Amino acid sequence: MTTTPNPLRDPRDKRLPRVAGPSVLVLFGVTGDLSRKKLLPAIYDLANRGLLPPGFSLVGFARREWENQDFRQLAYEAVKEHARTPFREDVWTHLAEGMHFVPGEFSDPGAFDALAMAVKELDTTRGTGGNYAFYLSIPPKFFPQVIEQLRRSGLAEHGPGSWRRVVIEKPFGHNLDSAKELNRTVHRVFPEESIFRIDHYLGKETVQNILAMRFANTMYEPIWNRSYVDHVQITMAEDIGIGGRAGYYDGIGAARDVIQNHLLQLLALTAMEEPTSFSADSVRAEKAKVLSSVRLPADLGRATARGQYAAGWQGGEKVRGYLEEEGIPLDSRTETYAAIKLEIESRRWAGVPFYLRTGKRLSRRVTEVAMVFQRAPHLPFSHTDTEELGQNALVMRVQPDEGITVRFGSKVPGTAMEIRDVNMDFAYGESFTEHSPEAYERLLLDVLIGDPPLFPRQEEVELSWEILDPIEEYWAEHGKPEQYKSGGYGPESADLLMARDGRAWRRL
Ligand code: BG6
Repeated sequence: MTTTPNPLRDPRDKRLPRVAGPSVLVLFGVTGDLSRKKLLPAIYDLANRGLLPPGFSLVGFARREWENQDFRQLAYEAVKEHARTPFREDVWTHLAEGMHFVPGEFSDPGAFDALAMAVKELDTTRGTGGNYAFYLSIPPKFFPQVIEQLRRSGLAEHGPGSWRRVVIEKPFGHNLDSAKELNRTVHRVFPEESIFRIDHYLGKETVQNILAMRFANTMYEPIWNRSYVDHVQITMAEDIGIGGRAGYYDGIGAARDVIQNHLLQLLALTAMEEPTSFSADSVRAEKAKVLSSVRLPADLGRATARGQYAAGWQGGEKVRGYLEEEGIPLDSRTETYAAIKLEIESRRWAGVPFYLRTGKRLSRRVTEVAMVFQRAPHLPFSHTDTEELGQNALVMRVQPDEGITVRFGSKVPGTAMEIRDVNMDFAYGESFTEHSPEAYERLLLDVLIGDPPLFPRQEEVELSWEILDPIEEYWAEHGKPEQYKSGGYGPESADLLMARDGRAWRRL
């Protein structure tokens, strides 16, 4: 038999790729945004990279009177529009053969019985070996119901030598109590090793690179502490608004949507100690240690800021404000921007503030972690020569321009000793020929392989809610978020938060 060489694989790369074993992925919420924009394209990309087994099967479950063909059509359009890798007819045809659809309501036991029969049949026809992953890409209010249906229909039980896994999309609860409750619900049916809580930021190459950079090198570690670092800024700025997600977003807001998970995970990876190994337990334990040492400043009025986007201009287009978005109540107090100052009580970080900010409809999309260093204790140059000199910074650029920047002072060419900031850059695109996989490619593959280090465990989820809950309670009692102009830099109160500490946000 001749095999078509995979054009995506560099022939010099002799490492064995991690390939998933026989399995079925059952996707709940196939018609949703996440499924169309991220999950279905990522499954195709995995197939295209040769990382799925030959009999891999994908079962979509949703409340539509659909045949397999309709599901395949939806997936085809999603792949055509959003896949990262080039479209190959042979890969698609093979993948589509393994795609099936089961119609039904989450409340309908009959639909889950039909699902159980469908996956069983796939075991026979496609050799999927009784290995099923259930991906819950659905509104959180349905989690308990679907989990219970999986139990009742026997789908959660596996025979010897096979596995069942459940993937839970964020948000995992909306505060500490509900996160605990949800955990109890899932645990009634699935053991901990079968539960994969998704935080897609951990699937990003640049986020994993924070650990590579810190722990595979020697030169950063000596300065990675309170003796050298002045403060840390973690930014996740988006230029988009809430799009069609009013139903999900309103009442949740920026802090619950991304600080509780993505930004606190970035903080944990930046601040954690070196794990004893890269096993799931060691990495998660170190992250949990950092999260448990996070302290909120006493005065939350001064240490937090929040805003809501007003109408404005973005990319040459007029855009509407949050309160004018479809489905948002006119008196909504949901924040679309949040900034928080945190401290970490540890020998390494005592006295070093970590500033976190995120917002929608800002001037540009950028996610980064910036370590800003203390000023040199003494400058032997005349004051006027160093006027434009800022603080040294090491910036881990998560997206979109992936890489690392080191910012430092350098002599301006000329006869005087004038010193100005310059950047030294590492860019993924220039150093590596391979493009970074999408976060969901990595995470879906990890689920099918059963590799959990990139999935937060319950302890981290709960610790993150413990950090956020007092802030949410404070905000609930203290008025409305400040309006900020779309296409700008966020609310003034966020600038004030920094100014009070004699600092400023990095420019977006
Ligand atoms: C999601 C949030 O988790 O992350 C969205 O719910 C946000 O509100 C998205 O837009 C951003 O993801 P990325 O990968 O584009 O930074």
